[in-house]
Amino acid sequence: MPGMKNVDSLAIFGSPPAFSEKLHVGRPNIGNRERFLERINDMLDRRWFTNNGVYVQELEQRIAKMMGIKHCIVMCNGTVALEIVIRALGLRGEVIIPSMTFIATAHALQWQEITPVFCDIDPKTYNLDPKRIEKMITPRTTGIIGVHLFGRPCDTEALTEIAKRHNLRLLYDAAHAFGCSYKGRMIGSFGDAEMFSFHATKFFNTFEGGAIVTNDDNLAAKIRLMKNFGFAGYDNVIYIGTNGKMSEISAAMGLTGLESLDEFISINHRNYREYKRELEGITGVQFMTYDETENSNYQYIILEVDEQTIGISRDQLVQILHAENILARRYFYPGCHKMEPYLSHFPHAGLVLPETERIVKRVLALPTGTAVGPEEITKICQIIRLVVENGHQIRERLARNKP
Ligand SMILES: Cc1ncc(COP(=O)(O)O)c(C=O)c1O
Repeated sequence: MPGMKNVDSLAIFGSPPAFSEKLHVGRPNIGNRERFLERINDMLDRRWFTNNGVYVQELEQRIAKMMGIKHCIVMCNGTVALEIVIRALGLRGEVIIPSMTFIATAHALQWQEITPVFCDIDPKTYNLDPKRIEKMITPRTTGIIGVHLFGRPCDTEALTEIAKRHNLRLLYDAAHAFGCSYKGRMIGSFGDAEMFSFHATKFFNTFEGGAIVTNDDNLAAKIRLMKNFGFAGYDNVIYIGTNGKMSEISAAMGLTGLESLDEFISINHRNYREYKRELEGITGVQFMTYDETENSNYQYIILEVDEQTIGISRDQLVQILHAENILARRYFYPGCHKMEPYLSHFPHAGLVLPETERIVKRVLALPTGTAVGPEEITKICQIIRLVVENGHQIRERLARNKP
């Protein structure tokens, strides 16, 4: 591997892989292990494992404070948090969402028999294109869910204006945007409410977990009831609810992670800068940038591949990287509208999603986080450059090597 001078040194053509161990897009951040174990011991001593324990309360207060928001309600995962807030807001009929998102955004609606209506994205931001939203509104539309994809904020001004004009509720799936800001305001404070995911693959995790944050007192009270079976006190259920509670062990992980949040972000930021230095300006691939004047978590390193220019497709590049044990991911291919049950419900949805269909075939995510450092990044980028510079030759060889 040293040097990676020619295409013969690629693992896909029989050379040993560049990395002996697999490099993943996101390995969990742990924070201070001793602090975490102390908290677990303390929790065991107290014998309070769930049901609004002290760690859950502390985590909620700290997140609300960090975002400058009145209410944070932590839950068992982001999907259930989304389902609950959708129900608490009274959404029904149709809700407009992007198709280029994790399937949970769509499922959280369909699970409650609400139809997700897929709207196209702005290819520059990968987020909902406000210009196209109004065309998707029908008399059945009750809301919009914007997704701050890869942690880059939606055009919240335009979305707010559209939601107001059409009397729609506005929610955000901020699963990727914990710790990010837009025009100096923390993500979490936009729309009627915002949802976060603290899944193990997110840079801030509680093993499994999620939260709803909102400034709406009534909405927060309703969500608190709903996530606890509708209990308003001992033996008193006043609402239909489910079990969305976060356990104390998850909250302990969250509190420990929060103490190291700046460190997690600065590692991601360092990796982002390394990747940017190596990859920006290479003809045929476009490196996704963050606005460095805002708070960002730099959690996703995204590359857009132009097959016409480099000669090989995004999928071929992913295949080449996987052979090197670089487990690049095709986030979020092929788009929700191409997956069931949405594909059967709307077989022609792609006709109104030209940008989504184009972008999901071009984008890939590269490994980052605490498991990756400058040395690995230099190696990864060397391979990408070699592939880009020799795309046409590699394509021919791959075609010849086909069984
Ligand atoms: C955009 C998006 N929405 C929703 C979710 C669901 O969150 P969770 O896995 O915590 O249920 C995820 C990721 O997992 C996501 O990436």
